Amino acid sequence: MLQGKKIILGITGGIAAYKAAELTRELVRSGAVVKVIMTANAAEFITPLTMQTLSRNPVYTKMFEPLEQTGVEHISLAQEAELVVVAPATANLLGKVRAGIADDLLTTTIMATKAPVIFSPAMNSNMWDNPIVRDNVAGLRQRGYHFIEPCSGELACNTEGAGRLPPIAEIVEEIEKVFSRKDLVDQEILITAGPTREPFDPVRYITNHSSGKMGYALARMANRRGARVTLVSGPTNLPPPVGVNYFQVSTALEMREAVLAHFDRATVIIKAAAVADYRPGNYSRQKVKKDEGPIMLTLERNPDIIAELGNVKGSRLLIGFAMETDDLITNAREKLQKKNMDLIVANHLREEGAGFDGDTNVVTILYPDGESRSLPRMDKGLVADEILNIIRELLDKRRA
Ligand code: PMT
Repeated sequence: MLQGKKIILGITGGIAAYKAAELTRELVRSGAVVKVIMTANAAEFITPLTMQTLSRNPVYTKMFEPLEQTGVEHISLAQEAELVVVAPATANLLGKVRAGIADDLLTTTIMATKAPVIFSPAMNSNMWDNPIVRDNVAGLRQRGYHFIEPCSGELACNTEGAGRLPPIAEIVEEIEKVFSRKDLVDQEILITAGPTREPFDPVRYITNHSSGKMGYALARMANRRGARVTLVSGPTNLPPPVGVNYFQVSTALEMREAVLAHFDRATVIIKAAAVADYRPGNYSRQKVKKDEGPIMLTLERNPDIIAELGNVKGSRLLIGFAMETDDLITNAREKLQKKNMDLIVANHLREEGAGFDGDTNVVTILYPDGESRSLPRMDKGLVADEILNIIRELLDKRRA
């Protein structure tokens, strides 16, 4: 989503300045065009050469350098920026901007830009707690500047407290959020993701290949678009998406309980999880010992969570997924109708780049009236965004 976005990364002089290197790498990896402005103090902590190498662009450190392009440099940087991010932002920088001081290239650019500005403060916890800093933060927020709260932990000055630069993934997510349209602010979206695990003894379980990527992408995108998101996830290797209300479960029964606990508040429910239809009926508290012959495993039906929701959904939108190996569309349409869904997203297990585990999916979205929309192979993030577009259209139609 950051492809081609012009971002100015401001770095000020704090120990966390070295983390700006990783931030730059992530932004460049996401396709952003990053230009770095460093204060003189920042250059004491990390070299402009490092930042130039990682950003693949010249690094700006002085107000008055020979002009690289036409126009006055500080104004041209401020004008071309689609976003200015300052990470780390020191107390000094915040104080200067609040007071309207523009005495170096970074503060001048911040003052001259019309682009959104995000500050990611990092400093000693006593400085962060200082009423002057709090007052500056409050004042800047009031003027529309965005802030990423520092997190707590061990600080470089050998103290514990709030003042650490948040993980880079969190900063990138906030940047993505600034660029996203906020068309789901009125929605409470409940999403399920990942597989369930159905144990038959304390050591072994039945599961499937779901990685959670599709459901997590939906949670991430819905959060970026302003929805309040609850994600109920089976066991995955993915970090919980930033800014999302997150609940980890293991079995289908636990997933049902967590979904029902959050169902009332939801306006939209998206069930991307691959829920096991069966669980072992004869769970053994001891590890089942191997024997010469085969063992018998009886399987009991798990509750069909989405069918249950379909009966009581009221005015909520209910969106399911279907994963099939044969007759994808016919089977998906049958599920859509039988379980009273408002949409079903069908993905084929055998199609290249679709379904389990990969970063892409190929889906056909089916409507109850017989209409359908097929999407080409796309990154799961983009598929999620398209599904949310369709959800937004359905919500608007209902409102009309
Ligand atoms: O997690 P990834 O690796 O990214 O893979 C994504 C995915 C392939 C898991 C996802 O895109 C997907 O298709 N999820 C649903 C897979 C599935 O279980 O399909 P189904 O046809 O068995 O179930 C239909 C619907 O009923 C699903 O919305 C499912 O969540 C729901 N269901 C199924 C069984 C059950 N007991 N309770 C349910 O709620």
